[in-house]
Amino acid sequence: MKHLLSAGDLSRDEAELVLTTAAELRSLADRPIKKLPALRGRTVVNLFFEDSTRTRISFEAAAKRLSADVINFAAKGSSLSKGESLKDTALTLEAMGADAVVIRHGASGAPHRLANSGWVRSSVVNAGDGTHEHPTQALLDAFTMWRHLGSSESGIEGRRVAIVGDVLHSRVARSNVLLLKTLGAEVTLVSPPTLLPVGVDTWGVETSYDLDAVLPKTDAVMMLRVQAERMNAAFFPTTREYSRRYGLDARRMATLQDHTIVMHPGPMVRGMEITADVADSQRSVIVEQVTNGVAVRMAVLYLLLSGADASDIPSEDNL
Ligand code: CP
Repeated sequence: MKHLLSAGDLSRDEAELVLTTAAELRSLADRPIKKLPALRGRTVVNLFFEDSTRTRISFEAAAKRLSADVINFAAKGSSLSKGESLKDTALTLEAMGADAVVIRHGASGAPHRLANSGWVRSSVVNAGDGTHEHPTQALLDAFTMWRHLGSSESGIEGRRVAIVGDVLHSRVARSNVLLLKTLGAEVTLVSPPTLLPVGVDTWGVETSYDLDAVLPKTDAVMMLRVQAERMNAAFFPTTREYSRRYGLDARRMATLQDHTIVMHPGPMVRGMEITADVADSQRSVIVEQVTNGVAVRMAVLYLLLSGADASDIPSEDNL
């Protein structure tokens, strides 16, 4: 695989290879030496046209832990403000010898445009495009579920996952649906009718407007932020009305099964889709998702750039 543009492009074998590679690499975090020479001499460019905390920093950490050189490009402060196009930005990166371009863009399809344009020869990784997809978020979410809920034989096959909130504007939801279906999990989208996309009935998942009915049957519940920035203000629900119907609070958390985990891709709006006590509870794996994100992004960069598989990862013993 040359690019990672959509979670739907991954076969089950490819997705599981990313997860098993991430498991190998995650163990590095517990070792005194956290760095591997696997991508020494390669250059990874982080090209972020939209704000990010977790994704941008974790791609940077991932590339550095594999000894790659990292160039961080943020739209703010760049020549984009002078009218430079995506094409000319891409040609500039190509001239600097990028081996991988990690791109976040407000326009759905921008990473596909970059990958298919011939402007760059490098691998392209989609770090979130508009309301379309966020494949590495889905991979780190699946990895987190697998660590908590999976068995070595069947992974997360048959596990029930509820994705709750603003599905309409969520690239995280789209990528999770695609990947979780590939891995055999059962997905229910829980959302107000106005925040479910048209055509969701073709996605191959259950839908519900009733969070209280769904929660006791799930193995993982993933809360989504209501994306006010992508919404007409007239349609933005009040915190009170939204949290009453679709927020996860302590009362609702008490209806979950003992093993059920609480997830959120971040950034969270505490008090809206999730209360602070739930976000900080023992069930919450939200901080662990961030840690797992570094390992998963290391795995993605490693597999795209080295052409190797998990069995080739150099260990601390042979550094
Ligand atoms: N989950 C996620 O994409 O977070 P950031 O916007 O902070 O990267």
